[in-house]
Amino acid sequence: MAEDVAIADIAAAVGTPFYVYSAATLTRHYRLFSEALAPLPHTVCFAIKSLSNIAVLKLLGDLGAGMDVVSGGEYVRAKAAGVPGERIVFSGVGKTRDEMRLALTGGVRQFNVESEPELLALSAVASELGAVAPITLRVNPDVDAKTHEKIATGKKENKFGIPLSKARAVYALAASLPGLQVVGIDVHIGSQLTDLAPFEAAFLKIAELTEQLRADGHAITRLDLGGGLGIPYTRSNEAPPLPLDYGALVKRTLGHLGCEIEIEPGRLISGNSGLLVSEVIYVKEGEDRTFLIVDAAMNDLVRPSMYGAHHDIVPVIEAAAGAAAQDYDVVGPVCETGDTFAKARALPPIAAGELLAFRSAGAYGAVMASEYNTRPLVPEVLVQGDHFAVIRARPTFDEILKRDSIPPWL
Ligand code: LLP
Repeated sequence: MAEDVAIADIAAAVGTPFYVYSAATLTRHYRLFSEALAPLPHTVCFAIKSLSNIAVLKLLGDLGAGMDVVSGGEYVRAKAAGVPGERIVFSGVGKTRDEMRLALTGGVRQFNVESEPELLALSAVASELGAVAPITLRVNPDVDAKTHEKIATGKKENKFGIPLSKARAVYALAASLPGLQVVGIDVHIGSQLTDLAPFEAAFLKIAELTEQLRADGHAITRLDLGGGLGIPYTRSNEAPPLPLDYGALVKRTLGHLGCEIEIEPGRLISGNSGLLVSEVIYVKEGEDRTFLIVDAAMNDLVRPSMYGAHHDIVPVIEAAAGAAAQDYDVVGPVCETGDTFAKARALPPIAAGELLAFRSAGAYGAVMASEYNTRPLVPEVLVQGDHFAVIRARPTFDEILKRDSIPPWL
């Protein structure tokens, strides 16, 4: 079931594969963060990159969430979902001048600036428009987030942010430039952190920097702490810290500074609110193993192939009690060996035609999907209570082909 809806009913109506999200879980996860930071003044800015369907953004925006965007496209999504500009923070290491113009014209809470050249560009664009851009500088605290190397962002060798050692000089530059207003500091050290220690190390450095910058005459009124709190991907042995623990850490390390706190969680809000549902096409006996060939593939959920990530896989219709488990390699139909979701995964006996659910797929699932092998982008469904709605339909082959065009000289 997804809330009170049978997943098999959604599969019958929508076809497989599809993503399905629970409105109740999204709501609960957003509130956990908001409650964990209270009574500090705070804004929970959902990291749109983790799950960007505008129905989900509207649901969260209507609860009062802000949004963290990293591109013009995400900015437009936030606005289309009805989120006001004053609740949208603009992050990202390579904002273009067009993106700056878009956000300055449509309204933005702040830009999290990541380099001196970006600062100069934003100053120029804002001045051209006769606008003042509220900014923080994203600092790189050189902290090891102890997560997968592809999603760690807070070490000095990473492309992100301004080194702490240069921060005061760059803040001085920011204060001297037209069209900019310094409002705070930003930091984000990585994603899927399952230990609070790296956050603590970063936040302590931010506390110290806040005092220094204030002494230098800057009005530091906001601290944007980024996202990154990890989620359990298995039901058994993982117990990452909870939003409540994270909130307590924020209060302990930064609460005395009188700043408004902003956070940018993505995965913790969306990850365990979503499943990818797929049907088994064939059960194929190999020489030394059995393959479950399913109708979802690496283009629909790339995390296992890209990061070696684990997603729990469960049959949608529970096996009879006492059914003996058997090992399967769960693979998609795409023509590469990397299209493998799991190796030697213990599952109850599975037959062709059965539905499987990939758990914890709400974050960085649909948003990272592609049409590789001209497989239509996987549709998305939102469930609330006993009803569901398709929030992104599966494109037809015609729609896909229409996006290409043959030049007149061919
Ligand atoms: N803020 C900034 C500036 C970020 O770069 C990110 C994630 C977030 C917030 C949200 O982080 P979260 O709370 O979701 O951990 N595709 C990868 C994850 C990439 C994360 C990139 N930045 C994956 O599938 O694991």
